[in-house]
Amino acid sequence: MEFKQVVGLRRSIRYYQPYRPVEREKIQTILEAARLCSQAVNSAWSRAIVVYRDDLSEEDREALKIPTTTAQLDMAPVWIFWYGDMSAPSLGKRTLKELVDIGALNPSHGWSHSYVDDVIWPQVLQPIAANPSALLALTGVEAGLAICQALLAAVDLGLGTQLVAVNQARATEILGVPEHLVPLVVQLVGYSAEDREAGGQRPRQPFEELYFEGHYGTPFERDEAVVDSLKKDGMIMKQGPFKWRHDEVRALARQFGLPE
Ligand SMILES: Cc1cc2nc3c(=O)[nH]c(=O)nc-3n(C[C@H](O)[C@H](O)[C@H](O)COP(=O)(O)O)c2cc1C
Repeated sequence: MEFKQVVGLRRSIRYYQPYRPVEREKIQTILEAARLCSQAVNSAWSRAIVVYRDDLSEEDREALKIPTTTAQLDMAPVWIFWYGDMSAPSLGKRTLKELVDIGALNPSHGWSHSYVDDVIWPQVLQPIAANPSALLALTGVEAGLAICQALLAAVDLGLGTQLVAVNQARATEILGVPEHLVPLVVQLVGYSAEDREAGGQRPRQPFEELYFEGHYGTPFERDEAVVDSLKKDGMIMKQGPFKWRHDEVRALARQFGLPE
């Protein structure tokens, strides 16, 4: 699928075909996409644990549910638990030197092994590592990039996917997660039981209220010709509500024995 269509078609899918497993190679592809995302200092900021719904006891499955995440956990056959690694800056000395060695970071910008040791380590990486709130924010951003690529890869593979919160304390116990990993979010993966448009693109805040040009508060004004072209390419799609959406939801609820 073209990139713009992948972006345009991504929706949080909340009904999955519970009986249809996801091919292991597709799960691997999702993880491969995450691994290739841009990462500060080229370090390893994210981890994922792939969990198959049917390998969990009913008790554990129930314990992971929280008010925002209920029946999805019974429906999606694969759950990817995403974590951030706050120890990532400590790898930076090595990973930056690797980038110097392959010519990605080069002398035009001042890079060398000694620049990493004498400047970047004491002036950039150590201060980040010593500042818990900056470190947490950076870890969230870095892992978020990987998770975003994982979501888009799942859409590209024809799968339904969504991010959900779960009872992370329980997940830590069940999965034996080490302390240095920060629980972030769970990505559900499966074949969608909803139409892939899932009732249309979701409403968002107006473009000009989100993005500015030159100064904060000066809206980046949308060129309608660009909007039209993105519509043609499938990135901007029809926004909900769709006329038939509530009927679709009722039919799905009946099919899966869920509240209407
Ligand atoms: C970090 C994160 C956590 C989320 N947690 C939940 C959740 O617990 N339950 C849920 O139904 N959706 C959850 N979502 C999905 C959002 O509700 C969804 O992205 C939003 O409704 C916009 O819809 P869209 O993803 O279909 O564009 C989460 C999304 C993100 C990015």
